[in-house]
Amino acid sequence: MRSSMKILVTYQSKTGFTKRYAQWIGEELSCECKELTSVDATQLADYDLVIHGGWIMVGMVKGLEKVKSFQPRKLMVFGVGFTDEKEADIKSWIEANKLAGIPFFYYQGGMNPDKMGIVGKTMVKMATKQKPEYVDYTNRDKIQELVAAVK
Ligand SMILES: Cc1cc2nc3c(=O)[nH]c(=O)nc-3n(C[C@H](O)[C@H](O)[C@H](O)COP(=O)(O)O)c2cc1C
Repeated sequence: MRSSMKILVTYQSKTGFTKRYAQWIGEELSCECKELTSVDATQLADYDLVIHGGWIMVGMVKGLEKVKSFQPRKLMVFGVGFTDEKEADIKSWIEANKLAGIPFFYYQGGMNPDKMGIVGKTMVKMATKQKPEYVDYTNRDKIQELVAAVK
């Protein structure tokens, strides 16, 4: 089935965790993986399925509005944040990001203060009341459900 399907993974990642998941998915599905800023609507029209991954900022999946505006034939989405999967309020994210009818997956990323920028660091510090420290929760096994859904 999917061997005839053209798939593109796009991502928006500030500190690299979402990019890592996007590349893993691209490898698993043997398809192209590109940063969202490097593709336009015309290029996207070549694909049967677009899988977009965006880091989560204050509950919003980055790049989602843009990729939706390109009107992909079929869209799947994954979001990456620091929230523990068990504590993640997936329902409210689906609502806030208008993801009804669009398959959505959530993966825990991490925190990289060196790449977050001063504004990001300040916002996280205010939200968590803690100084952000480097932590990496990425786990390749997590992508299996999405990969299986595509295959
Ligand atoms: C300003 C700011 C807001 C954030 N808001 C959320 C949030 O609402 N929920 C969450 O789970 N993670 C939140 N995060 C954490 C990032 O989503 C997390 O660090 C993610 O792994 C970053 O992905 P990236 O490495 O692809 O940029 C926030 C981080 C920053 C800097």
